[in-house]
Amino acid sequence: MDITILGIESSCDDTSAAVIRGTTLLSNVIASQAVHIKYGGVIPELASRAHQQNIIPVVDTALKDAGVDIDKIDAIAFTRGPGLLGSLLVGTSFTKGLALSHNIPMVEVNHLQGHILSHFIDLPDRELPHPEFPFLCLLVSGGHTQIVKVNSPLEMEIIGSTIDDAAGEAFDKCAKVMGLPYPGGPVIDRLAKEGDAKAFDFAKPHVKGEFDYSFSGLKTSFLYTLRDRVKEDADFVEKNKADLCASLQKTIIDILLDKLIKASKKLGIKDIAIAGGVSANSGLREAIAEAGRRRGWRTFIPELKFTTDNAAMIAISGYYRYQQGMLSGMDVSPVARLEEIL
Ligand code: KG4
Ligand code: ZN
Repeated sequence: MDITILGIESSCDDTSAAVIRGTTLLSNVIASQAVHIKYGGVIPELASRAHQQNIIPVVDTALKDAGVDIDKIDAIAFTRGPGLLGSLLVGTSFTKGLALSHNIPMVEVNHLQGHILSHFIDLPDRELPHPEFPFLCLLVSGGHTQIVKVNSPLEMEIIGSTIDDAAGEAFDKCAKVMGLPYPGGPVIDRLAKEGDAKAFDFAKPHVKGEFDYSFSGLKTSFLYTLRDRVKEDADFVEKNKADLCASLQKTIIDILLDKLIKASKKLGIKDIAIAGGVSANSGLREAIAEAGRRRGWRTFIPELKFTTDNAAMIAISGYYRYQQGMLSGMDVSPVARLEEIL
């Protein structure tokens, strides 16, 4: 009988639970928290409270959808970090309680490794394409932007990362300046489709690190463009929203691809994957596919439901760790920052 893992994700503003058997996903339930929308960003205290309300029904539904009894679960995988400490605490504490009461081992998962390993999930009715090791993964989420060399499911090297803002933050912060709702990424993606990507020029960074990124300069450049033009015309943003979104999105994609191409060339690796919330961006997905066609890459672009936060990716990561006997003790505590996990 294949290993069956229950995965639990609660690092930010999505409460999610999933059941995986072997690498086949049996269920994946996500409760997104609408409570943050009116504040224009995630309020940590409200996120923890919403996780507390959601976690029992979400886990219960995931087990029911999978048709698996809790006593048939081999291990519970949970997100230890990085993320919001209060949110992580809810998932970690709940996991401990469930593990203790049913005598099930626990497996901690690094959220970012989870995003990357989402490329190894299969569906009951079809296998999905999996990259071969070693491959490069452009990990683009709300809090992180990295190029990761993935040597095996559990051995990953961060070869480049942002020195300031993440790509997702650039989307979200620029959206906020334009008065668009949170999270800004999907809204910009939609508006960009009707705009001219050549309409505006925004600053591109010159970062010393060969494969490192920076997005704070772009954000400032975007902010100044808006400020100067709004002085001349109060309706500037309203009239130019689509063009602003298209130009901003194109700039972010160009920045991301530039370093990714350099890394692929330097390391001679042509299996290229993208992961994380920003990998839902339609422009980025097209640009990666196009770069792949031109450069002879095999590109791995996740199904949309596996791009943003979900527990399926935590369950698959847990599967690989459990196979290696990497269990966590009852004294495990969540960690907010990536540096403390590595
Ligand atoms: O991976 P994720 O769900 O959460 C973190 O681990 O941070 O990523 C969330 C980020 C947000 O910044 C959101 O704006 C961005 O992913 N995002 C997008 C799109 N969908 C989500 N950015 C650009 N285009 C999208 N379609
Ligand atoms: Zn994430």
